[in-house]
Amino acid sequence: MSAREEIKQLWSRGRIDDALASALRALEDDPDNHEIRVSVVRCLVDGAASGMAGQRDLLLSLVRDPAIEPTNVSPAGWRFLRENSDLFDTPNDSEAMAGRIESDALAIALLEEDAVGDIASERALTALRRWLLVSGRRTDFPKLTAALITQALRNGGAWPFDDEERALLAANPDFAAAYLPPRETIGTAQYSDPVTRSVAQQYEGWPYPQWRRLTSNSPEPIASRIRRYDPEGRAAIPERGATILVAGCGTGRQVVALRQRHPDDVIVAIDISEASLRYAGKRCAETGVHDVEFHKLDLHDVAKLGRSFDVITTTGVLHHLPDPEAGWAALLGVLKPRGVLHVMVYSKIARMRIAALRRMFAGERALPMSDDLLRDIRRKVLALENFPEMRSRDFFTLAGVHDLLMHRHEEPFDTGRIGRALDRFGLALLNFEIPRPKIRAEYRAAHPDDPHQRDLKAIARLELGHPTLYGTMYEFWCARHA
Ligand SMILES: C[S@@+](CC[C@H](N)C(=O)[O-])C[C@H]1O[C@@H](n2cnc3c(N)ncnc32)[C@H](O)[C@@H]1O
Repeated sequence: MSAREEIKQLWSRGRIDDALASALRALEDDPDNHEIRVSVVRCLVDGAASGMAGQRDLLLSLVRDPAIEPTNVSPAGWRFLRENSDLFDTPNDSEAMAGRIESDALAIALLEEDAVGDIASERALTALRRWLLVSGRRTDFPKLTAALITQALRNGGAWPFDDEERALLAANPDFAAAYLPPRETIGTAQYSDPVTRSVAQQYEGWPYPQWRRLTSNSPEPIASRIRRYDPEGRAAIPERGATILVAGCGTGRQVVALRQRHPDDVIVAIDISEASLRYAGKRCAETGVHDVEFHKLDLHDVAKLGRSFDVITTTGVLHHLPDPEAGWAALLGVLKPRGVLHVMVYSKIARMRIAALRRMFAGERALPMSDDLLRDIRRKVLALENFPEMRSRDFFTLAGVHDLLMHRHEEPFDTGRIGRALDRFGLALLNFEIPRPKIRAEYRAAHPDDPHQRDLKAIARLELGHPTLYGTMYEFWCARHA
């Protein structure tokens, strides 16, 4: 068996630590093998708990790798530094800590490449930033100082600070950007529907998701990917030149991922937020993606495009609409008869704690939003020890905090509501994702007759046993009944 097959098998059985060990062994013989490097990253994202102790050089090369998304490496990188270095050993001696970080290539790379994705490290670094501001010792630590300024750009100014620090910023203009990074001015959204208007307004100010580069995947036509979920052949997707609509494309992360994965298919993307579309355009240019059509368009008006699509994907959008099923229906209006719809929506069960927080911050949510208000909310959440959503990548950028905790409008789903919508629209499930490999393997063993996880009642029972399973979102593919 090849190394890649072994890793894949271990991973699909949910044996993530073993898959990581196998990938690390394979890398010893073939350190530049991109697929194996990606397997390592995937294991880190899927929660490999151990195994990176001796891997400082590998972590450094992964976080600087232009073909790997740094967000996928950042939490593991910081955890490595906390557990395997003396970087944070002297919390009361900031000068010593600054000296160690100044000469630590991995710490500097992690600060520069992505928002720090680890609460304990962020706390130590926030205190260090304060010391650099108050002591004025920045010229002694030029790499750390520059990296903290870059870090603020990456996190959008998410780290909390106090009034004393704010007062000192005016007198220390060289370091102000480590606190308050330059930002685009907030645009104005004009939509007649009040929900659409306030949602668009949010994204005019805080385009989401914030991202820089992606982990590259092996290319394949979207038709082959869909065939894996559709052995019955309900869908008919052309092998080349399939038309894909991205409804609510945000800042283009999904668009670029689709373009890299499906280079021969046609991609059209729409969104209501001008600022998000601008961000998407910039990232496309930087990543060499030039052949995507972007439109500023409310998805309820998608028929105005005057065309229909083989595949429509809408991720993280329907639950922000004034009437999600009405938006769903509008999208089906431009789906070809044998096309496929890919949906990701919030789960009510997984968002229960977020719903409680939203109630706690209802007063703040009624206020005009600002970076200061978001930072303050984040500071209050940081004070709630062990709030699990603090591990979400969204928690580490200001735009992510707005999206995760303070969204202007959200209406999460449950599996019952998804089932009712599928029935109403005459759709059949092709596949309902189970995100954690170990749980997916257990489900498949318990339901050998449901290899594509289409039994929504069984999925509902599974979720009750694992209430955070759909912490990211429900994800499913569906097509019209034959
Ligand atoms: C959470 S973001 C998701 C972005 C992207 N799909 C992704 O997964 O990275 C939601 C996006 O949906 C867009 N959106 C919300 N309501 C919309 C509508 N009625 N029509 C089109 N886009 C909409 C927002 O502007 C925002 O960019």
